[in-house]
Amino acid sequence: MYKLAVLLSGRGSNFETILNAIKSGYIKNGEIVVVISNKSDARGLSVARENGLNAVFIDSKGKDREEYDREVVEVIKRYAADYVLLAGYMRILSSYFVRSFKDRILNIHPALLPSFKGLNAQRQAIGKGVRFSGATVHFVTENLDDGPIVVQAVVPVYSSDDEESLSKRILITEHKIYPLAVKLLTEDRIKIDKGKVFVDWDEIEDFYIMNPKIGG
Ligand code: GAR
Repeated sequence: MYKLAVLLSGRGSNFETILNAIKSGYIKNGEIVVVISNKSDARGLSVARENGLNAVFIDSKGKDREEYDREVVEVIKRYAADYVLLAGYMRILSSYFVRSFKDRILNIHPALLPSFKGLNAQRQAIGKGVRFSGATVHFVTENLDDGPIVVQAVVPVYSSDDEESLSKRILITEHKIYPLAVKLLTEDRIKIDKGKVFVDWDEIEDFYIMNPKIGG
């Protein structure tokens, strides 16, 4: 059973869907050992507590990036987590953090990377008038939103969309692909080779967008 640490800054809906996927048995080889937030009032922290999970607020006030990250890494190590899941964690990680968990940090981003990195990805997509956007789960490297891609899902963008309506549509797919990525990871179905991810899709029946066997 792999131990998972979740880092979040707010609502925590992605965290919740992963938790539900564990409860339902969809993710059968992973357990959340700690949920950490840089925001004391993050809804995700309350959800963690309500579910009897270890929920830790770590205050960033007065600390530089690496100092803060050293504290976070220490807590993650205290709980002996194998993997770190960023779920709406709105802080840039220091090199120290990334090097501490090489190839063991996943992030979800609300765009089809490598398009629209950084903040407000949905607003960037609306601004460019793209016809499709989506969500990406990727490994975290030292360059922002740039690591090896694990799964992606595509959604249409309509001319009537605003940031809010597009964010909602993308979030629905986030809630599918993040549990899927965690399932794949904790079943040892993912290999990284030369910066690319190779997935063992055997008997994974999820929707076609991220299953290269269908239509291939
Ligand atoms: C999600 O849309 C996630 O993709 C995004 O923040 C939201 C968090 O929602 N993350 C980023 O933009 C990271 N660059 P949640 O707290 O309900 O999971």
